[in-house]
Amino acid sequence: MTKTKIAVFASGTGSNFESIANEIKAGTMDCEISMLVCDNPEAKVIAKATTFEIPTFVFNPKGYTNKELYETEIVEVLEQAEVEWIVLAGYMRLIGPTLLTEYNGRILNIHPSLLPAFPGKDAIGQALDAGVKVSGVTIHYVDEGMDTGEIIAQESLVLEDGEDRESLQERIQQMEHRLYPIVLQEVVQSFVNKEGKDIQ
Ligand code: GRF
Repeated sequence: MTKTKIAVFASGTGSNFESIANEIKAGTMDCEISMLVCDNPEAKVIAKATTFEIPTFVFNPKGYTNKELYETEIVEVLEQAEVEWIVLAGYMRLIGPTLLTEYNGRILNIHPSLLPAFPGKDAIGQALDAGVKVSGVTIHYVDEGMDTGEIIAQESLVLEDGEDRESLQERIQQMEHRLYPIVLQEVVQSFVNKEGKDIQ
């Protein structure tokens, strides 16, 4: 059976990238990561991709006059690699019309809060500042907004009394690492069953 080709987009540590790559290596998913796209030449995720022998496209947005220019280049690279799905995992940029048009309905993101609460940067800090008793993780489709696309899956956790940032972050990340590969597999598989593979 042919594997669905995905590209993971990340800007930083890449622990979610790693968890997906590990699941794929373990044979639990019908996907392969054909490309890591990274907008930060200093990001730790790049070395992780090299370890897994996954090709990378690393760019510096400051080298382009606008988003359309670098997204056009990304689309070219992804099409060359026959990428079908885009999986955002800590990619710190809004996706623009160029990528959204090309990958309409086939872009996922993971966010460390129960959306629509606490979209955008530092969701964990926002939740702690608000004094919530429950938080969690959301996986959603990506649209032009900031963490506003249709929700696919959520998992919640109850905060412990006086829980600090380090502990909450750790628990949320563990949840992300377990949940993202499972949901990604389900979404891609149901798409393949519904549409067939011939989508390019
Ligand atoms: C994750 O918490 C994810 O929810 C958010 O960015 C973080 C990325 O972490 N969008 P990592 O780079 O995967 O370790």
